[in-house]
Amino acid sequence: MSFPPSKDAADQNQDGPLAQTGRLLKSLIQQPAVVASIAPSSRFVLQKLAAIASDPQLRRVIELGPGTGGTTRSLLRELPLTAGLLAVEMVEEFVQHLRRIDDPRLIVHHGSATHLRSILEQYQWPDVDLVVSGIPFSTLAEADAHELIQVIHHVLRPGGQLLGYQVRDHISRYAQPYFGPPVTELELRNLPPLRIYRWKKPKTGNADEQ
Ligand SMILES: C[S@@+](CC[C@H](N)C(=O)[O-])C[C@H]1O[C@@H](n2cnc3c(N)ncnc32)[C@H](O)[C@@H]1O
Repeated sequence: MSFPPSKDAADQNQDGPLAQTGRLLKSLIQQPAVVASIAPSSRFVLQKLAAIASDPQLRRVIELGPGTGGTTRSLLRELPLTAGLLAVEMVEEFVQHLRRIDDPRLIVHHGSATHLRSILEQYQWPDVDLVVSGIPFSTLAEADAHELIQVIHHVLRPGGQLLGYQVRDHISRYAQPYFGPPVTELELRNLPPLRIYRWKKPKTGNADEQ
């Protein structure tokens, strides 16, 4: 990254909620188990995700399942100007749209989060400070879900955080053996209502430290 981006860059090329919902619904019909959502996350969810991204210490952040980019833009609005955001998305149409976000902090990777280990090797990211995930853990194969959580736990630096916004609680069940119990918040102002799970990787190796 050679120059600091403007925080307004995150707002460029943004289409409205209706266009985003249309794009999401079209992909939902084609790939229901992958997209698993009838509407983009509400502004109430976006605000909660963005709040965690305003930490000035953040250097490398991963977003899994950015979709139509509402979550990506709200993370970029808050992330430090020197941070990097690696967004991993499986649906090609979403990827093309995400690549129109003009922000040098953003890397859009077309592929599955289940290959996270090799994706991080490709970008030479040895560790990360924050992982934000909207991918539906409920539809992942069990072995893939276990491996993904294991990789996330491994690459998070001590004190780093995993945040999952999910309708179902599968992520929590997969993550608890590695991270311990989450801090959980119910957000009713979303279609459908969802939970935001948050874990902090202990600095000391003690899973109870949140
Ligand atoms: C519930 S939507 C969230 C979209 C957007 N972040 C939002 O909150 O409005 C889940 C997103 O995860 C993506 N996804 C599902 N499985 C994935 C996987 N294994 N790897 C990468 N992306 C995946 C879907 O294509 C979809 O964009």
